[in-house]
Amino acid sequence: MESLDNAVLYHIGLNRDLIENAQYVILPGDPGRVEELAKAIGKNAKFIASHREYTSWLTYVCEKPVLVMSTGMGGPSVAIGVEELAQLGVKNFIRVGTTGSIREDLNIGDVVINKASVRLEGTSSHFAPIEFPATADLDITLALRQAARELKIPHKVGINVSSDTFWPGQERYDCFSNYVLRRFQGSLKEWQKLGVTNFEMESATLFTIANVFGLRAGAINGVIAKRTESETVASRDMYKVAEKNFQAVTKKALEILISEEIHK
Ligand code: URA
Repeated sequence: MESLDNAVLYHIGLNRDLIENAQYVILPGDPGRVEELAKAIGKNAKFIASHREYTSWLTYVCEKPVLVMSTGMGGPSVAIGVEELAQLGVKNFIRVGTTGSIREDLNIGDVVINKASVRLEGTSSHFAPIEFPATADLDITLALRQAARELKIPHKVGINVSSDTFWPGQERYDCFSNYVLRRFQGSLKEWQKLGVTNFEMESATLFTIANVFGLRAGAINGVIAKRTESETVASRDMYKVAEKNFQAVTKKALEILISEEIHK
């Protein structure tokens, strides 16, 4: 019989054996992105489980197991995934996703490394009061930046807004009602004034929970919408450029972190 310690967790469908006690997890949102990401960042990638929005592959970086697990979109499913991975002993979490830039000098295909997030979502407030900062781990953030620099991949390090919605919370008017609540009208301009770099939907939840649990988290996102020019997302070709860039930076950053045993 399976010991309690090795129980398969309800939502993610994983246990300690399946993840080979991996200490690092890479968290894309899209289950369809997991296989390619696992193969791109490591060696001998293998499928291990798929349950709900959580599709998991294990890959090996510098001989160490690294889990790649999708979270689905938005805070609630990130929170469930991170909670269960923490129970399995995972210590380091890197979100790898896509984003809309709100800066003129952040173009489609570039990557953004987020050092902190505005908590414009609801999930993180179930873990800490809203005054608590959603900050990334310094070592993971620096490794991501070093990787992007060495690879000469266009990048910025910045603060993002994590929104619970793709349309109103990111002030998009190309929606069914063409209406954005007064509360969000003009918000994009205001975030620009405050020096925010990009919109996405997951990092604030991840950063808050990681800090509260005493774990480490970072985030890298490929730009697929340039909101200073348009509300729409990029063509498939440009999407691929963003994807290749965040894969390359993630691979190198992991090699830096694992080979230098920064989180031993
Ligand atoms: N993800 C988001 O949340 N917003 C965008 O504009 C693109 C990707």
